[in-house]
Order: sequence, then C-alpha cells, then structure tokens
Amino acid sequence: MPHPPAPFPDGRGGVPQPASANQYETNPFSGDPEPAEEVRVLYNETCVICHGPNGAGGRGPNLTGFPLAGVGFLRVVLEGRSGTQMPAWKGKVSEEEAWKEMAYLER
Ligand code: HEC
Repeated sequence: MPHPPAPFPDGRGGVPQPASANQYETNPFSGDPEPAEEVRVLYNETCVICHGPNGAGGRGPNLTGFPLAGVGFLRVVLEGRSGTQMPAWKGKVSEEEAWKEMAYLER
C-alpha cells in the first residue's frame, strides 16, 4: 500500500494551508539592501505607531531579530492576531508589501 503523500514537500506534518494561502513560501525580497522608499513610508503609515521606529517595539513587540519569521510573520501581518491589538492588514497591505516590510525590518 503506497504511503499517503506528506502535507508538505519536505515531509513535515501539520495543518494543510488553504488554496488561498500566500504566493511565496519565503521572502522574495530578503537580502535586498535597500527596500524601496515606498516601503519605509508604508511602514511609517501602518506599523510604526505600535512597533516603533525600525521595529524597535512599543505598544507592540520588538520586530527585529525575528522571533517570528517567514510565513509566520506574513500570516500575523495579513490576518492579525485575534484577541490582541494586532490588526489584520489584508486588503490594506498586499502580500508583496508585507514581505517588503519584513525585508525592511531585517536590515
Ligand atoms: C494598533 C497597534 C498595532 C499596529 C498598527 C500593528 N501592530 Fe503588529 N502587533 C501589535 C501587538 C499588540 C502585537 C502582539 C500581539 C500578541 O500579543 O501576540 C503585534 C504583533 C505583531 C507581530 C508578531 C510578533 C511575534 O513575533 O509574535 C508581527 C510580525 C507584527 N505585529 C507586524 C506588524 C506589521 C508589519 C504592522 C504594519 C503593517 C503591524 N504589526 C501593525 C500591535 C500592532
């Protein structure tokens, strides 16, 4: 009897993601030394009030050093975290913009 396919190509188990899941698995903008000026502006319009200049933290947690990286970061940004002050940005921040914000914070 053939073994059922693993939910992820690398064989790790877990909850399969819906078809509408994100377009990228890893940050396509990671390592970009100069995230565009527009991302800095976007960050300052949407995140800085809670996460502070350059993600240093404040009302929301410090976002540098990446306690939460990759798709985990993306999901929190797009879907928010219910029961906390972290809002869902889906519809206001695109997936690409969320990845760019992460690249911006990584510098
Ligand atoms: C109204 C305040 C507020 C705004 C605006 C906000 N956040 Fe948050 N954010 C929070 C709070 C509070 C938490 C912590 C939630 C918790 O207790 O788990 C959080 C958590 C997060 C986390 C998870 C951190 C971790 O490691 O657990 C990420 C990533 C994040 N925010 C990114 C962003 C980004 C990117 C933006 C801008 C698009 C943004 N946030 C805007 C308040 C905010």
